[in-house]
This record gives sequence, C-alpha cells and structure tokens, in this order.
Amino acid sequence: MRVIDLRSDTVTLPSPEMREAMYRAELGDDVFGEDPSINRLEALAAHKMGKEAALFVVSGTMGNLVSILTHCQRGDEVIMGDQAHTFVYEAGGVSALGGVHVHTIPNQPDGMLDLVDLEDAIRGENIHFPKSRLVCLENTHNRCGGAVLTVEQMSAVRRVADAHGLAVHLDGARVFNAAVALGVDVSAIAAHVDSVQFCLSKGLAAPVGSLIVGPAAFIKEARHIRKMVGGGMRQAGVLAAAGIVALEKMVDRLAEDHANARRLVEGLADIPGYRVSPSRVQTNLVMIELDGVDADYDAVGAALAAEGVKISRMSARRFRAVTHYGIERDDIDAALPVFARAVRAA
Ligand SMILES: Cc1ncc(COP(=O)(O)O)c(C=O)c1O
Repeated sequence: MRVIDLRSDTVTLPSPEMREAMYRAELGDDVFGEDPSINRLEALAAHKMGKEAALFVVSGTMGNLVSILTHCQRGDEVIMGDQAHTFVYEAGGVSALGGVHVHTIPNQPDGMLDLVDLEDAIRGENIHFPKSRLVCLENTHNRCGGAVLTVEQMSAVRRVADAHGLAVHLDGARVFNAAVALGVDVSAIAAHVDSVQFCLSKGLAAPVGSLIVGPAAFIKEARHIRKMVGGGMRQAGVLAAAGIVALEKMVDRLAEDHANARRLVEGLADIPGYRVSPSRVQTNLVMIELDGVDADYDAVGAALAAEGVKISRMSARRFRAVTHYGIERDDIDAALPVFARAVRAA
C-alpha cells in the first residue's frame, strides 16, 4: 500500500543531492570554529537573511530557546501569541531553563498579534512587574494553519516594540514558505526583527538542523548559550552539507507544496462531512474539521490510516494535513477519494 504521509513537513527525507553532499562534506571541530561546511552554511544563512551572522543549532526548539535566552535575563518577560509554537510545544523550556516569564496575548486567526493587546502587555516601570524585554512572532504560523504575516504586519509589530525598547525575535521555522507565498525575498521579512530562527528540516527537506541569524554580537552570545545547553556539535558538517543544498536548491520548490495544499483543500471542500477554509490556506498547511457535532475524529483518522493516508490531530476537533517534498500532485488526487470514503465509513 502506498503511504501518503501528510502528518508534517518534518517527515521529509533528504534528496539524493543532499546525501551526496553529506558523503563528501569537508569536516572539522565546530566547537573550535573549524568545520568548513558549518562555516559555509552559517555564512550563507546570514547572507540570505540579510543579517550579520548565523549559528547552526540542532532543532527549531533549540533555536528559539537559545535566541530567547540570549535576549532575556532570568525574570525578564517575553510576549508572544497564545498559539505560538514556543508557548505550546517547546516544553516550557524558556521558563524551565532560562527563568524567562512568558506573557501570552491572543493570536488573531491570521497569526498576527493585536497591536493594542501588545501595547497593553508591555510593562511600565514598576517595582512589581517583570521587565518586558522581547516580543516573539511566528511566520508562517503553525497553529493558525500556516498563515503568513505580511511585511507590513511585521513592521507594525516592530514599531510598537521600538517605541518601548523591546527586541523582536521571529520563530521562522517556515519563513521560506512565507517568503514564497508573499513573493518577497526572505530578507524583507527578516529586516523587521532582531533575530530569526528558521528550520532546514521541514519543507526544505534537510534531515536535521536550524539556524539562528542576527547581529554578530548577538550570535557570539548565542554561541555561548548553545554550548551551555549542550548544543556544541563537533563534526556536524555532515548535517550542514545537506543544509547548504536545502538553502540553495529547495526554496523555490515550496511553491509546489503550496499548490498541492490548495488542491487538497479545494478537493476537501467538495466532500460532504469535512469543513475547511480554502481562503485561509496560504502555504502548505491545511486545517480540517469534521462537519457535525457528533463527528468521530478517532474513527475518521483510523479509516484514513487504514488506507495509507496519514494526517495529524491538532486538537480534539481539528486535523492538520501538510504537503511537502515527496508528496506529488498525484498523491493528493489519490488521497481525496480516501478522505471521502473515510468520512462515510466513520
Ligand atoms: C513554528 C514552529 N516553530 C518551531 C518548531 C520546532 O522545530 P523542531 O521540531 O525542529 O524543534 C516547529 C516544529 O514543528 C514549528 O512548527
């Protein structure tokens, strides 16, 4: 049975060119700054993002953790959306490991923060309050269905942060999807934030790794924090080599994933029993609900899986399907009748 795995873009396998590059990678001890492949990847990432420097880390979670711990001292406050990946899915690391106080405000359905909520959340000078230090944005926004923040939205948040002397960090796990969807250079998005974490291991299909980009002094300090949390990786150029291919060869093809997500959502919109919002699908994520109060999500999920279509469960009443490298247009066409059968059977 052909398996069509739409659970996540993290299931992507490295391309043949990546495997070849990994085999041939020049290596050294990166903790000594001597891995040529990592040095190349970091220089390339900084250049693409229009920032001074970059740091290779093992994961998006580590990228956000190290970035926030670099911006904030213990007891400082970071403001982020209540649907932020960092708030929901990163094991509370910034407070557990960094003593950073997380202040959430509601995410709007488009992934944005309401600017009045943001102003209200920023603390004034008062002995009772933690010190507001940082605002975090997420673009594209995972729990908001892959929603894209525009360059104007990013700059509006930047203006509020600037007015209060706060830094801005972007969880840009899928920032290249945002750039492709907006038709802008990724540096135009990064221009409005101090630091960005972006993932190589999602739609860009590298096996492992994320980068943090920002000013040289920030990255120097982040390198120290990365060591502190055990992220110094020695001959990790075998991984960086795949990352270089990801950045050079895999960005433009994200448009195919977006087209496949559109085909999927438009197909699902025609199948009775599913509720989807085609107008909200901007990138490679499709949120799917069942149409009916007694709908049995477990049964539909199991019926899909029994026919080889895997999707993930975002909450009690929401599935998520993700298109990615390795999923072709034909797979979407093969999956749609399975969706139709699964909802009828359940
Ligand atoms: C928006 C966002 N940020 C961060 C991460 C964390 O990345 P990782 O799984 O590499 O730790 C993810 C993972 O799905 C994500 O979707």
